[in-house]
Amino acid sequence: MLALIHGGQLQRVAKAFNIAQKHWLDLSTGIAPYSYPIPTIPEYLYKDLPQEPDNLVIAAKRYYDTNNVLVTNGSQAIIKLLPVLWQTKNPKSKTVYLPEQGYKEHALAWQSAGFNLCWYQEELPPLSAIEKNAVLVVINPNNPTGKLYQRSQLKRYQSRMIETNGLFVLDEAFMDVITPSQSMATNIGNYKHTLVLRSFGKFFGLAGIRIGFLLAQQYWLKLFHEQLGPWQVNGPAQFIAENALLDTQWQQTQQSRLQQLAEKLLDTLKSNIPLECINNITGTHLFTTVYFKNTIDVEAYYIQLCQQGIYVRLTDEKTALRFGLVTPEQLERLAKALATLSK
Ligand SMILES: Cc1ncc(COP(=O)(O)O)c(C=O)c1O
Repeated sequence: MLALIHGGQLQRVAKAFNIAQKHWLDLSTGIAPYSYPIPTIPEYLYKDLPQEPDNLVIAAKRYYDTNNVLVTNGSQAIIKLLPVLWQTKNPKSKTVYLPEQGYKEHALAWQSAGFNLCWYQEELPPLSAIEKNAVLVVINPNNPTGKLYQRSQLKRYQSRMIETNGLFVLDEAFMDVITPSQSMATNIGNYKHTLVLRSFGKFFGLAGIRIGFLLAQQYWLKLFHEQLGPWQVNGPAQFIAENALLDTQWQQTQQSRLQQLAEKLLDTLKSNIPLECINNITGTHLFTTVYFKNTIDVEAYYIQLCQQGIYVRLTDEKTALRFGLVTPEQLERLAKALATLSK
């Protein structure tokens, strides 16, 4: 199975376009451009083997408002392992419902484990259509479509997955910027058919330290803990994440800062891309996705931007470009490059 292409591969793109990495404006990911400031890290954390992340778990319980937390090396670790573990728990399970547009690592993992993939568009499959023993994956809010499902609707799907002996997987990688939150994490301990995945790197702007969380019933936490083995997350990363999750003041600043950047980005996109080329603009406070009319060669736009050292994410379907947030100093460069796109 081929590795998937994601944003964030600047080194490769810079080489392909023969522009030195330092000259690029990298907007290819949904990672916040402002990061949690790295605290002074005690030296022993580099020297010793990592301990069980007890302090980080305490901080995460508070931040995610649940008692059921497992720390992992990014939520990707859970995505990859889940299909095989679920299969051993429910060997009758053969079908998985997935968003047609969305983070494709889910599909890859389920397909590799031999599941039949059933795609849904923006709307979730009708409740009554969900087969027995099936898996439903919802990315909320979705990346790249920005589609947000309300908790009241998700609750109905949660009940259906219990009734049908299925599994409900909620990937909440971008939920931190949603207010009011539509997270399904609260009381997760009561629902053995639901798993919630959270990503630390995006909102806190620290994707490089590779931290994610599984929020689920103890059964699942124990199972994944055993399978993933010791030392999932290194000591310095634990220390940074613990500080970040406890720092509510920084989190508030970050929320309003990201909102402002998202508004500015939207203005820049709207005023520099000819409106007649645009089908729809969606997103979250961490990225904006521009869907183009089908007369537009979106890949050509992607290349034209790359030629100017601006790296955005061409969606897998090649119908849209996803833009990460731009700091105020970088806006003008983006605006100028957008203005050169030929109709
Ligand atoms: C929707 C979604 N889920 C999960 C991930 C994995 O993130 P991480 O492993 O850093 O938690 C990504 C990464 O881009 C993503 O976009």
